[in-house]
This record gives sequence, C-alpha cells and structure tokens, in this order.
Amino acid sequence: MSSYLIAGRTPLEGEVRISGAKNSALKIMAAALMVPGKVTLTRVPRITDVTLMAEVLTRLGAHVESDGDRLTIDASGELSDETPYDLVTRMRASIQVLGPLLARLGRARVAMPGGDAIGSRPIDLHLGGLERMGAKFTSEHGFVEGVADRLHGTRVLLDFPSVGATENLLMAAVTAEGTTSIENAAREPEIQDLAVFLNRCGAKVAGAGTPSITIVGVPELHPGSHEIIPDRIEAGTYAIGAAATRGDVTLTDMRPDHVELLQLKLEESGAEVTRGDDELRVAMSGRPRPLDLVTLPYPGFATDLQPLMMVLLGQAEGSSILTENVFEARFLFVDELNRMGCQIRVEGHHAVIRGIEHLSGAPVRAPDIRAGAALVIGGLCAQGETEVFDIEHIARGYEDFDAKLAGLGAALTVRQ
Ligand code: EPU
Repeated sequence: MSSYLIAGRTPLEGEVRISGAKNSALKIMAAALMVPGKVTLTRVPRITDVTLMAEVLTRLGAHVESDGDRLTIDASGELSDETPYDLVTRMRASIQVLGPLLARLGRARVAMPGGDAIGSRPIDLHLGGLERMGAKFTSEHGFVEGVADRLHGTRVLLDFPSVGATENLLMAAVTAEGTTSIENAAREPEIQDLAVFLNRCGAKVAGAGTPSITIVGVPELHPGSHEIIPDRIEAGTYAIGAAATRGDVTLTDMRPDHVELLQLKLEESGAEVTRGDDELRVAMSGRPRPLDLVTLPYPGFATDLQPLMMVLLGQAEGSSILTENVFEARFLFVDELNRMGCQIRVEGHHAVIRGIEHLSGAPVRAPDIRAGAALVIGGLCAQGETEVFDIEHIARGYEDFDAKLAGLGAALTVRQ
C-alpha cells in the first residue's frame, strides 16, 4: 500500500473540474448487461472501482473497451451467470449485477458481499423485492443463487430507501412482465441517471428521483449511449476542502442542484458560497462556526460527506453534534482524526466534536474511500506534515485525486 505525504497549512485555491459520478457509472455499467448490443458511456471516471466493474462484466462474458472517459460495453454474446467471490469482496457494488442477470438470463449466482469498513451491509431488501417479483433464492457456500422463469411486475414497499436495492429492483423490473412500482424508493440523483440511461435503451421508467418509481416492463432493451452525471460527492469533497483549508475553490462542470443542503450547511458554518448554472465557488476566511448535522438518504445530508464535515467541524469555534443515520460504522475513522489532535467523542451514532484551532500533522491510515479523502484534507489543514497510508482506497473513488489537489495548490507527494 502506498501513502501520501502532505505539507500542512495549505489553503486550496483555484478551479477544479468535476468528473463523472462513480455511483452512477458503476450501476449503469451493470445495467448494460441487459442490453443485447453495444452501449457507449461517456464521462466515465477513471477510478479503480470502474476498472473492477469492467472486470466483473468481462468475466460475465461482455466485451468492454475503454478509451479515456469513454467506455463501450457489448453484452450481445453468451453471458455467464456467476460473479466470483474475489471480485465481490473487492467491490461491493458487484452485487448490482444481480437484478440485470436475473432479468436477462433468468438466473444469477453472486457471492454474498460481507461487511466492510463502513459497517455491516446486508442485501435483504434487494432479495426481498426480487422475491416479490417471482425470483427464488437459495444461499449456500457463501453464494446467493437466484432463479426466475420470467420476473413479473408487482408493488414493492421498501423498509428503508436503500440505494442499491432500489437500483437492483429498478433494473430487474425493466423487462419484467407487467408493471412494477417501488415505494419508499431511494431518490439519489444516481438513480435518476440510471433511469435516464435505461429509458434511452427503450425502458419505460417514470418517477425516478421521487419515492415512487413505476416501471412498465418491455420485452427487450436496445443499444444506446449516455453521458454520466457529474459526481456530487467528489464536488462536495473539494467544496468542503475549500472551506476546511480556508481557501477559495470554484468547482466547474458540475450540478449545484445536487448539493443544495451542503451549500446551506457550508454557509451556516461561515463559508461564502456562490452558485452558477454549472459551477459553485466556495471561499472561507476565518474559523468555521459549529453546526449540528444529521446524515440521511437524499435529499438529506449525504453520509459520504460526513467524514469531510468532521474535518471542517473539528476546527470550529465551538462544539458540533454529528449524527450518522445511514452506516453504523462510519465513525471508526474518528480515532485517526483524534490522532491529528481532534477532540471527537463518539456515543452510538452521535459524534460530539469540540473544535480545536489547528489539527496537528500525524501518520494516519485511510480505512475507506471517503474517510481517506477526509484525512488528506485534514492533512492540508494541519500544522506540520501528515502521512496518509493505504491511499489505494482513495483511488477507488476519486479520479486524479492528487493531481486535482496539486492543481489547487496542495503540496503532496506519493510514496510507494
Ligand atoms: N441496507 C439494509 N439492507 C439492504 C440494503 C441496505 O439493511 O438490503 C442498509 C445498509 O446496511 C445501510 C443502509 O441500508 O445501513 C443504506 O444502504 P444503501 O443500500 O442505501 O447503500 P448502498 O447501495 O450499499 C450506496 C453507495 C454508498 C453510499 C450509500 C448511501 C454505491 C456503490 N454505494 O451504497 O457509497 O454511501 O449508497 O448513500 O452506490 C461510497 O461511494 O464511498 C459509498 C460507500
């Protein structure tokens, strides 16, 4: 594993172009398995998770080619129904091939994803919904195996608006017989993007982006092309990075309407936020004001930005309370921030953050994508030098992270 060496007290300043959304690209790649022909995707981020998903599709029998940010996927040949353990453990989003495989082949065998650094991540809602559509599942030797002669439309009411379950059900319903409705569906922009892509390929999906999605089954999808939406979490990372380092950053080619609550929270903390049609400028001069923040499914405050906000609030003039409602173990990296001098106490799913004047550079370890990015931003704020280990996690989700930060004035070097 390699590390970043980061010189502290460097405000981020300048312009950064936002890449395509990881969590949209991965699902749309999985959906391409349902298309018996060539799909062309553009603005696909060059990140490790996309490479892994391309490997999943290739092992399933699709032909995948990439050229810069353009990816073509041709799943017209014979497909296998099995997604191996080594890939699912390396990337949990591999589970998103379950719905498309059931729809296309009538069977799927996918390794059960285990927990990961952000908590236990069951797939009961995915399986329960697919069962209502006629699939039968057995689980043996660490694999879940599903069969369905032909999925049929039904009404599924989710216990919780799970992003992954909504997407798996949405994909499976596209070629099912009859009409499916998903209630209490997740409303994330990436789900809307998936629906836009599927509709371009002949699907009939309405209501994506609302809690009630209706899908009228069609016999078959046809080839299509699609540009992935900008990554709101990457945008949020640089926006919070600007505020935390007391810098001035303009995010370009992005969707300000996908990060509205973040804009409000940054303003509440004392940042100056200027919104354009497809850009956002965030500037901060003094110490942030403390905030109370609660993570919730979209349009609530994104759990993926919670670790970044912890770095900002860690330097606030006063105490903040941050409540994590989506992933139980997402506070585990707090110990790393406390190594950098932060005063954060975790009680259940609440964190009490007593702001300090300066973080102090230290060696720390990135446990996952978002906490990794947060520790790097923490290093840029800190007095002295910080070394962030295990940065491979960061490359899973951020395109050109070090180059983009260097373009904003950060002094960081990679150590192999
Ligand atoms: N859950 C269940 N049962 C299920 C499915 C989910 O209990 O069948 C629980 C999970 O354990 C979790 C909560 O519901 O506590 C939310 O899970 P959800 O299904 O909404 O999340 P996900 O699909 O596993 C996606 C993103 C995450 C992001 C979350 C929440 C992808 C590949 N991942 O995960 O992104 O944090 O939605 O917005 O889209 C990241 O990009 O770093 C990342 C972790």
